[in-house]
Amino acid sequence: MAQEVRGVIAPGKNEPVRVETIVVPDPGPGEAVVKVQACGVCHTDLHYKQGGINDDFPFLLGHEAAGVVESVGEGVTEVAPGDFVILNWRAVCGQCRACLRGRPQYCFNTHNAKQKMTLKDGTELSPALGIGAFAEKTLVAAGQCTKVDPAVAPEVAGLLGCGVMAGIGAAINTGGVGRGDSVAVIGCGGVGDAAIAGSRLAGAARIIAVDIDDRKLAKAREMGATHTVNSRSTDPVEAIRELTGGHGADVVIEAVGRPETYEQAFYARDLAGTVVLVGVPTPEMKLELPLLDVFGRGGALKSSWYGDCLPSRDFPMLVDLHLQGRLDLGAFVTETIGLGDVEKAFARMHEGDVLRSVVVF
Ligand SMILES: NC(=O)c1ccc[n+]([C@@H]2O[C@H](COP(=O)([O-])OP(=O)(O)OC[C@H]3O[C@@H](n4cnc5c(N)ncnc54)[C@H](O)[C@@H]3O)[C@@H](O)[C@H]2O)c1
Ligand SMILES: [Zn+2]
Ligand SMILES: [Zn+2]
Repeated sequence: MAQEVRGVIAPGKNEPVRVETIVVPDPGPGEAVVKVQACGVCHTDLHYKQGGINDDFPFLLGHEAAGVVESVGEGVTEVAPGDFVILNWRAVCGQCRACLRGRPQYCFNTHNAKQKMTLKDGTELSPALGIGAFAEKTLVAAGQCTKVDPAVAPEVAGLLGCGVMAGIGAAINTGGVGRGDSVAVIGCGGVGDAAIAGSRLAGAARIIAVDIDDRKLAKAREMGATHTVNSRSTDPVEAIRELTGGHGADVVIEAVGRPETYEQAFYARDLAGTVVLVGVPTPEMKLELPLLDVFGRGGALKSSWYGDCLPSRDFPMLVDLHLQGRLDLGAFVTETIGLGDVEKAFARMHEGDVLRSVVVF
């Protein structure tokens, strides 16, 4: 029987979010209902609220979550009730041209639950990134549930479901950061700091953090940055070149999502270096670069969707590293909050007060 739970919706463009009663159907074939234990507040949730992703309001927000599978629909074999899982937004299909070529991390046909969660009056909700986990329970495709070691605390595990995975993966998977590399990370929020932590894990020799907020830079140092640059007062391109023998960094990761920071990343990398764009731009943003520089500087300009992760491969591995004390996921959690505090958490994110606020249930 369908259940009624509390969830956070974004009713319309730039309107405050609010807690509403959500109707969660029983899982159909290939679906699962998950009792959410924790869900982080990601900048992408704010993008949804601001209408920066699309206009499919109302949204059921929240997508960085961990919880326990409550029930599964017909034909589900990958998870069972009682399993502790991290929710992912890359349930790979196994059939598309990327999957068939052995590159499931680029799957072009990922799936979500087929049934819709609704408001009590029947209004269909669009779950953020096909998840919608600022809710006591949510309906997802079973492939969106990745089983991990239940010894990990839900409030840190959930972060691997989006921002932290996106950042670590931008460094390790997309950027290919390796031992001895120099890396610069522009924008040190949850995603940028995760890129810093990932670069450290991968053995980068020099990790330069760039932000416009000194509090963020102090935190970036804790995460593994060896040098910091406040780009409000210092030209970051000059500074990064200076810190890398005059050349620029081997890998520059842009974790803001703006043309001016992308341009900084472009010019702050060494010849034949790599730029990774992990920040999400908005539709009106444009970039203008001399084509000769694009050619003449060589190297690779890459975008990183979800850190090019494969949840089944990467989530359990990163949870294990965390449990071994080699990856401090707890450092990303600034505060735990209640379901009614999401709007306040957006304001705090906007003010730069937090790395991650995490809703706990
Ligand atoms: N590609 C993906 O798969 C993926 C996944 C999750 C999030 N994201 C995106 O990554 C970006 C960062 O997310 P977050 O959750 O870390 O956000 P956040 O708001 O926590 O962090 C952004 C950081 O950028 C800094 N900043 C802002 N303007 C700057 C500038 N001009 N120069 C330098 N630093 C600047 C801020 O001070 C802040 O520290 C967002 O665009 C988000 O949508 C992408
Ligand atoms: Zn596929
Ligand atoms: Zn996210």
